[in-house]
Amino acid sequence: MKVVTIAMLIVFFALSRQNTLIMAAIYDAGSELSSTTPQATRTPAATPTRLPSPTAQPTPTVDATRLATGKAVYLANYCGVCHTLQAAGTAGVFGPSHEHMGSTAAQRIADPSYKGAARTAAEFIRESIVTPSAYFAPGVVNGRHPMPSYAHLPQADLDALVYFLLQQR
Ligand code: HEC
Repeated sequence: MKVVTIAMLIVFFALSRQNTLIMAAIYDAGSELSSTTPQATRTPAATPTRLPSPTAQPTPTVDATRLATGKAVYLANYCGVCHTLQAAGTAGVFGPSHEHMGSTAAQRIADPSYKGAARTAAEFIRESIVTPSAYFAPGVVNGRHPMPSYAHLPQADLDALVYFLLQQR
């Protein structure tokens, strides 16, 4: 009987303590609410200034120097003997046209028949130059003038070629 009384006392104590805590919390919330309400009505004027202005957005820019280097490497390696590209002044017909190569590359990797390793347009262009046999562009009769591998080119030249062709949108 005594044990039950003690147990009940403990429960009462715990409950009353919890009640005080809950009351305190409610009181806190109330006072917080009353103190923030006037502030909230005062602050909206400051909000628009935090929005990013359209002019602050970074715009994709073309690096003219890298583009010129790419064109020079393209011409030095006679890519234009087989490829047509107005930007390089070439008119080859043994390979696919390089007009819009950046967009074409993106389409190639999306093609279900593409089984190469490239996952981006830039990777596709690099693969086409280093391992041309990884994929054969549709509509190209790959017989008499197949694309030779240019894997021997210095890394900087390959980078320049990839950049140059990727910019052909
Ligand atoms: C002897 C002719 C020849 C030369 C020279 C040549 N190519 Fe090609 N190229 C081809 C042929 C043919 C194809 C299509 C077959 C293929 O996709 O592999 C091709 C495909 C490509 C493709 C993929 C095109 C697409 O639409 O999928 C790229 C990129 C490319 N060549 C870049 C180059 C670059 C850069 C050079 C110079 C460094 C070069 N080629 C030199 C014949 C040539």
